[in-house]
Amino acid sequence: MARAQSGRVAHEPGSGPASPAAIQICEGTVRAMEPVTALAGDTVVDVTDILQQTQVMEVLDKLDRELVGLRPIKTRIREIAALLLVERMRSTVGLTARPPALHMSFTGMPGTGKTTVAMRMATILHRLGYVRKGHLVAVTRDDLVGQYIGHTAPKTREVLKRAMGGVLFIDEAYYLYRQENERDYGQEAIEILLQVMENQRDDLVVILAGYKDRMDTFFQSNPGVHSRIAHHLDFPDYTPDELLAIAQLILSDHMYRFSDDAVIAFRAYLERRMAMPHFSNARSVRNAIDRTRLRQANRLLARGGQITRDELMTLEGQDIRVSRVFRQTEPGGAATDA
Ligand SMILES: Nc1ncnc2c1ncn2[C@@H]1O[C@H](COP(=O)(O)OP(=O)(O)O)[C@@H](O)[C@H]1O
Ligand SMILES: [Mg+2]
Repeated sequence: MARAQSGRVAHEPGSGPASPAAIQICEGTVRAMEPVTALAGDTVVDVTDILQQTQVMEVLDKLDRELVGLRPIKTRIREIAALLLVERMRSTVGLTARPPALHMSFTGMPGTGKTTVAMRMATILHRLGYVRKGHLVAVTRDDLVGQYIGHTAPKTREVLKRAMGGVLFIDEAYYLYRQENERDYGQEAIEILLQVMENQRDDLVVILAGYKDRMDTFFQSNPGVHSRIAHHLDFPDYTPDELLAIAQLILSDHMYRFSDDAVIAFRAYLERRMAMPHFSNARSVRNAIDRTRLRQANRLLARGGQITRDELMTLEGQDIRVSRVFRQTEPGGAATDA
């Protein structure tokens, strides 16, 4: 049975011209190469080898561990990874085709993990050999569109050049299009993007991010963009339990912890904060923890004397309950994460 590995097909030295059935793996070396098109249908590629080479499972497992919730997103990313793995295996046995288009849209409320997942996605695409470098360039309209005639094309091209070999993440992408102004320079940026998304798609993945409803409207007005997006990932809001789990994760990253009473207080905080304006999911959690650390520090210093390691680590219920969120009674009042 024939085997192929690492995109190289080789056979035992001195075994004469190899029939595909005689092909053996030669780790790290390329000896007599068969024309890949001559490979027989029973040529074998080993999935374990490919997984070992790419280490993609490590990245996927890390994503599962380090990001709370996001079930549908994680499933979709595994599906995309599987597609690219199979694509790699296909190419090792001479089944080459144009790589699949991988431009994506990430929609969801602020703080639902879009930017974070985009960075992980860049790493995964790199491991799987889809892009050369695997970095992420995050931009908004202002980075792409100029103020004056002739400024937009060079600005957009410069950003594209920086992003080549990685992922271009365009936050609030719909601001590129202004329905009320046909001569808006954003249109020029969109046209350049469209060309590059089509012609250089094997070395650049574009991710358009933003609110779902605005993105839908944008796609309706720009069917050309819509037709080039292969994957639409919608990021759900986190549940209170997920937000608490995110808080615990952030705390342990910083070597802090909640006391039992702080957990109760934080649940109450979340319930109130989620009902207020400008709530932004995991970002609000991160901000709330920053404020809580500030209050803990002040409490400890005000008390003075000797402070234990446990005390230095522990955020107490009282550090949370003094938040403005507990004082605010009018709905719709000026809300912050404080
Ligand atoms: N599922 C998650 N698990 C842990 N932390 C998360 C998760 N989602 C978001 N965060 C954290 O919340 C913050 C905001 O996330 P971000 O990716 O910037 O959201 P978005 O781009 O959707 O506004 C980041 O600090 C990120 O690390
Ligand atoms: Mg973001």
